[in-house]
Amino acid sequence: MAVDLPPGLRVPSPPERELLEMFVVQAGLALSNAQQRERLARQLHFGEILREVAQSGSRVGLEAMLMSATEAINRGFDAVRTWVSCARDREGGPETSVAHPPYDARPPTCEPLRADLMVTAWPAGLVVPVALSDTGVPLLPTSPEKVRESLRESGAGQAVVTPVGNGQEMFGYLGVGLGEQRKALRRDELDAIAEIARELGRMVQSARLFETEQRLVSELRELDRYKGELIATISHELKTPLTTIIGHVELLEDREVGTRSVAAIRRNADRLDRLIQNLLDYAQVRERRGFVRRRVDTVELADSAIELLSQQAESGGVQVAFDRPPVAVDVSGDAEEIGTVLNNLIGNAVKYTRSGGRVVVDFSATDDWVHVTVADTGIGISPVDRAHLFSTFHRSSNPEALSLPGTGLGLAISRRIAEEHGGRIEVESMLGRGSTFRLVLPAMAT
Ligand SMILES: Nc1ncnc2c1ncn2[C@@H]1O[C@H](COP(=O)(O)OP(=O)(O)OP(=O)(O)O)[C@@H](O)[C@H]1O
Ligand SMILES: [Mg+2]
Repeated sequence: MAVDLPPGLRVPSPPERELLEMFVVQAGLALSNAQQRERLARQLHFGEILREVAQSGSRVGLEAMLMSATEAINRGFDAVRTWVSCARDREGGPETSVAHPPYDARPPTCEPLRADLMVTAWPAGLVVPVALSDTGVPLLPTSPEKVRESLRESGAGQAVVTPVGNGQEMFGYLGVGLGEQRKALRRDELDAIAEIARELGRMVQSARLFETEQRLVSELRELDRYKGELIATISHELKTPLTTIIGHVELLEDREVGTRSVAAIRRNADRLDRLIQNLLDYAQVRERRGFVRRRVDTVELADSAIELLSQQAESGGVQVAFDRPPVAVDVSGDAEEIGTVLNNLIGNAVKYTRSGGRVVVDFSATDDWVHVTVADTGIGISPVDRAHLFSTFHRSSNPEALSLPGTGLGLAISRRIAEEHGGRIEVESMLGRGSTFRLVLPAMAT
């Protein structure tokens, strides 16, 4: 405390000095009270932000939760933009990135920043301030330019970045971008951000557990439904031809040997064989994860499929025309599986076309895609049936289609194969007029 010179330039008398000292003590007390009040108010404010962030944990879904948390952090620190990026699961699955205010497009994730924080800040539990004017940030050896870039993009002058994780595992990071005019963050603000990041880590962990649990439950449900459906259909499909076979064997046993019975046995044995083959194909496609891709000429595969079906087409009175391209049309994949798709599509076209009808197989290719089109003038598919066409064991409600043998697995298998190859199957059809199925696959990069 300083006092102006007293009038007359006299040294203050002892009672005056005592009085002055009392003023000094009072002023000191008032100052310390004010400081404590401010500290308490700031702590209360940080506590409030933390409470809001923790409340976001009640949102269902990682994204919704992070959106609400970044909004609370942004508001609480009066920040320009707050962003969080987290790996969705342990296997380093797709990254979930959220920002408030949101970016126009998907918020970018910064892999170098994650890598830097993993090595420097995560083991020591640090928060890292970065200013737009910083030339080098020791804790971010590779990523400061990237961070500065996102600061510029957000209109922020400085930021604090910190890892988000739980236990041993770092999931991602939190960044809080602040206005250029703002003073550098104080120690208690940095501590509060560190505490918020820890809370976010706990929340992300619970959200991940919840999502895993949900996924497992729905997978189990789907598996259970599929199992029930499979058992019902297989028993039914195996029983029908078997009953016929047994009936005709009994006839043969009674020595009424006739070619009719042998033909019926043959027909039904074939039906069982087809069912079992389809089930094997389906199981194989369902179980396989990842496969070796090779150069496959789809024209050659279409040739083989047409050749294989030529006898069936001939006996059904269906003409098959192939508008054969003069050159190979290559895709990258598994020849046997793509062959299965073409057999199924051309096989269906031949099977579901009446005598006198026509099937046309035709190719077209762009730089990116190969289209194999199988068009028939057959019985067609109603819009209702079209909706379920690719479901396992689905057969049309059309009695004419049902009168022909089939397991309802061919298209389900085909679609899975097409999708595994990065492609799809498209359908257009009109009941009574015919159907067009189109296999679309990514063209082989040359
Ligand atoms: N080209 C087509 N024309 C008319 N209906 C079709 C055609 N292709 C498929 N369908 C209908 O879609 C259903 C499902 O076809 P999918 O190939 O999956 O089974 P499927 O031919 O009955 O038996 P399979 O498993 O032996 O192939 C068929 O039962 C049929 O009703
Ligand atoms: Mg079929």
